[in-house]
Amino acid sequence: MSRILAIESSCDETAAAVVTDERRVLSNVVATQIPVHARYGGVVPELASRSHLTAIRPVVEQALSDAGCTLDEVDAIAVTTGPGLAGCLLVGLQMAKSIAWTRGLPLVPVNHIAAHVDAIFLSDERGAGAVVPELPYVALAVSGGHTSLARVDAPGVLVPLGQTLDDAAGEAFDKVAKMMGLPYPGGVHIDRLGREGDPAAIALPRPMLGKGLDFSFSGLKTAVRYWLEGARDDWASQADLAASAQEAIVDVLVAKSLEACRQQGLRDLVVAGGVACNSRLRDRMLGAAAEAGLRAHLTPARYCTDNAAMIGGLGAMLLARGEALQGMALRRADIHVTQRPTRRVRRGA
Ligand SMILES: Nc1ncnc2c1ncn2[C@@H]1O[C@H](COP(=O)(O)OP(=O)(O)OP(=O)(O)O)[C@@H](O)[C@H]1O
Ligand SMILES: [Mg+2]
Repeated sequence: MSRILAIESSCDETAAAVVTDERRVLSNVVATQIPVHARYGGVVPELASRSHLTAIRPVVEQALSDAGCTLDEVDAIAVTTGPGLAGCLLVGLQMAKSIAWTRGLPLVPVNHIAAHVDAIFLSDERGAGAVVPELPYVALAVSGGHTSLARVDAPGVLVPLGQTLDDAAGEAFDKVAKMMGLPYPGGVHIDRLGREGDPAAIALPRPMLGKGLDFSFSGLKTAVRYWLEGARDDWASQADLAASAQEAIVDVLVAKSLEACRQQGLRDLVVAGGVACNSRLRDRMLGAAAEAGLRAHLTPARYCTDNAAMIGGLGAMLLARGEALQGMALRRADIHVTQRPTRRVRRGA
């Protein structure tokens, strides 16, 4: 058995994990920065980089200690190289490069979104990874910064099928929550509140439904804002608004995922990323997939939001394929900054 030490620092979680070459999770440590950013209603990039700097070393040490091993027993390092915030990515990458260089270990650069999707293959003592999808499969990646559909031909090999043209689904959840006065990040609060509301109470748009595999969520956010402005004297319960906004997002995600499977003639569908924690999305996706004769694979909640286990899992596969860097080639490991860096600051706006 070989062990991969994985490091993730693309946004507001400092994470490290030890994962085996068979994607078995030996440890998984996540230090969240939510309290640092909550008062601003969104991630502040400079604060995020500074928090990574102080957290990275203890988090790596904790991951090694939880896995019951030392650096001497680690065979490779995997690290997120993007997409993400430049300053944040640099902290993880420099840590990973330093360990790889001083220990003479191979370094595997890993794409964050491909790793979210690959997390479905992680196994651990809590029984994750019991039934795994067959390649090729369709993946819906829904997170704070991304919403996309892809065909996955091999671990880390994603063929794009559709993506959001504006806000990500997680952003839509967070912005609706902020307009409603719920705490940051709001996705989980909408989820909880929505369970008590009527999803059909308020008519909200289903943007781009039936129009290809791209997404758009900014119109929904605006519709919620107008509804809130016009509803002062006629305030339905917050729960109804949460349930209705959630239903609009879920309707679009479910319909386009099924359509992608139909177009590709594929039966296995993976749902990954932070928004895949959403209980309504999980229920609806399972039901709709079963009805359509498809198999929906929902990433376990502990591997949906940012973590390093997913980086280690995909890193193990890339290492086996010979995609690691070593020695002087380490210089080639470079970060891939997110294409929309300002989106992070505005996420809570
Ligand atoms: N139960 C839930 N319902 C809806 N949204 C949720 C839930 N739990 C988490 N989220 C959302 O998931 C997002 C965070 O996911 P994740 O950690 O994967 O995003 P990120 O890493 O910040 O973005 P990216 O992966 O695109 O770089 C937030 O927008 C959060 O509100
Ligand atoms: Mg993420």
